[in-house]
Amino acid sequence: MSTLEIKDLFVSIDTEQGNKPILKGVSLTINTGETHAIMGPNGSGKSTLASTIAGHPRYTVDSGSITLDGEDVLAMSVDERARAGLFLAMQYPVEIPGVTMTNFLRTAKTAIDGEAPALRTWTKDVKAAMAQLRIEPEFAQRNVNEGFSGGEKKRHEILQLELFKPKFAVLDETDSGLDVDALKVVSEGVNRAAEESELGTLLITHYTRILRYIKPDFVHVFVDGRIAEEGGPELADRLEDEGYDRYLAADAAQA
Ligand SMILES: Nc1ncnc2c1ncn2[C@@H]1O[C@H](COP(=O)(O)OP(=O)(O)O)[C@@H](O)[C@H]1O
Ligand SMILES: [Mg+2]
Repeated sequence: MSTLEIKDLFVSIDTEQGNKPILKGVSLTINTGETHAIMGPNGSGKSTLASTIAGHPRYTVDSGSITLDGEDVLAMSVDERARAGLFLAMQYPVEIPGVTMTNFLRTAKTAIDGEAPALRTWTKDVKAAMAQLRIEPEFAQRNVNEGFSGGEKKRHEILQLELFKPKFAVLDETDSGLDVDALKVVSEGVNRAAEESELGTLLITHYTRILRYIKPDFVHVFVDGRIAEEGGPELADRLEDEGYDRYLAADAAQA
């Protein structure tokens, strides 16, 4: 079993108006095999947490720690994080002109594993994973994310997740912009990855909709850069009924 531990994390960004604190003391422990949902209103810092785990240079860690089985993740470069077993699917995936999906997947897999995948099984694995995610074969020859629709980008992220077999995946708003059919296909992919490789998942979402297909073991509610409440799947059901108003009212009264 592996553990990703976030301890009392404070993160800020530099803006034109000066330094702006965003995360204000986040603590969270995820073990492999567990699914944690992070839910919360827009602007509460969910993507900032994902970007900080990913090592985005824009974000400054002022204090606190992120460790993977005791190893300091914050000291790792972005590719070291991937090799250590972290997978990050960002809310806005980047396009990579001039690099085909086929080349990208193989190069990334080789970099992550430290050796090239055996060609015959690899080609078969890629084809099978693409078929399960209903990705048309001709996508293999298209440039990464170039001209992909929102839903196509999300399905390609899950393709990477299934092929790279990380220990932990951070999925930031993987549900946004998906119609119900695509949402099901994507959710099935995440569930398969969880079953096949004991994946630990940090599922970041504003809406409860995806939680009908991916069952979280734990739910954390993010408000103003902190975890305001934690619970089991029943907390997601309550949020579906009540929304975030209760937290926002309490937050305003406190300020
Ligand atoms: N690059 C940035 N420049 C300026 N403000 C930012 C930047 N990234 C995040 N923020 C601010 O930080 C807060 C948290 O944003 P974010 O982490 O994207 O929240 P969420 O994903 O929960 O909607 C917001 O007030 C947002 O405007
Ligand atoms: Mg976000």
